Amino acid sequence: MERSSAFHRMVWLLLFTATVLLVSSLRSTAAEISTDPATLKRLVQEAHNKFKDLKEGKPADYIPELAKVPPDLFGVAIVTAKGEIYTAGDVDYAFTIQSVSKPFTAAQVMQEQGANAVLEKIGVEPTGQKFNSILATQIIPQVSVNPLVNSGAIAAVSMVKAKTAEERFNKILDFEDRLSGAKLKVIDDVYKSEAATNQRNRAHGYILFASDRIYSDPMEAVDVYTRQCSIGVTAKQLAVMGATLANSGVNPITQQRVLDARYVPKVLAIMMMAGFYNESGQWAFTAGLPAKTGVGGGIVAVVPGKMAIVGFSPRVNDAGNSVRSAKAIEYIAEQLGANVFGSGR
Ligand code: DON
Repeated sequence: MERSSAFHRMVWLLLFTATVLLVSSLRSTAAEISTDPATLKRLVQEAHNKFKDLKEGKPADYIPELAKVPPDLFGVAIVTAKGEIYTAGDVDYAFTIQSVSKPFTAAQVMQEQGANAVLEKIGVEPTGQKFNSILATQIIPQVSVNPLVNSGAIAAVSMVKAKTAEERFNKILDFEDRLSGAKLKVIDDVYKSEAATNQRNRAHGYILFASDRIYSDPMEAVDVYTRQCSIGVTAKQLAVMGATLANSGVNPITQQRVLDARYVPKVLAIMMMAGFYNESGQWAFTAGLPAKTGVGGGIVAVVPGKMAIVGFSPRVNDAGNSVRSAKAIEYIAEQLGANVFGSGR
């Protein structure tokens, strides 16, 4: 009798354990985003194939040198939080980082001065306007608006602690080197071309100055900002920068901590709200990932804790966002169920 009740208890225990294991494995399958190598390898290739013939948009030409970049270049890259790399297409071509640099400088300011310094001295509100909108600086009380539009990005540069412009730029470059695990350098022709045509950004500098919202000499800040935008990166290097955010601030290739983990959600929140400027709402609605675009054609999107997905394609739309890069990232995010608001499955 005693033997049979012990046997029953054991059977029940086994059944219970098996049920718990099954339920938890089903739940994790529903919630987990695949980082399986075969899936990621297939998805970068599929995204590249699917959009390689898309010709919508045109290379930005308000910076004359950018119009010379071959428009057909197209690269897609994923770097996971574990440091695995998956690529398709032109992922080793160095293009100018442009506005994709902006969240990283905001991160650098947070690292130096805390997250509240960005909140209070720049702002975090989205504008719904273009990246270089003067109007936004006049209707949003903070003037500098947020670190991802030009006015806020110039303010962010001015906040990087340094005694000279040279030192400030070198600190920004060094931070990006550590994020990417590479030795990056300025693409000089693009820098000169933008420096000769950046009157609107100089206007932003003076508006900030007149409103006490810039923290170094305004023209010096505009020049360092212009150099920052002209830093060359490849899609692969940009994906490592994004993967450093995905990996809570530790570069997954070099294993070096670049940013305190507590600042990562702050940076990603700003990217979600303002990373696509006047298309940020649409991007959140379709892809649901924090991301940042640049007129050089690069876009980095971050799947928190998992990976960065990068597209590079020089043809941009009216908002200054690369059409093919956005489509490729959106496709991969959808296939993975990576939307941060839920996969909807
Ligand atoms: O300040 C500018 O106009 C450029 N250096 C950067 C603009 C930019 O990348 C807008 N993003 N899509």
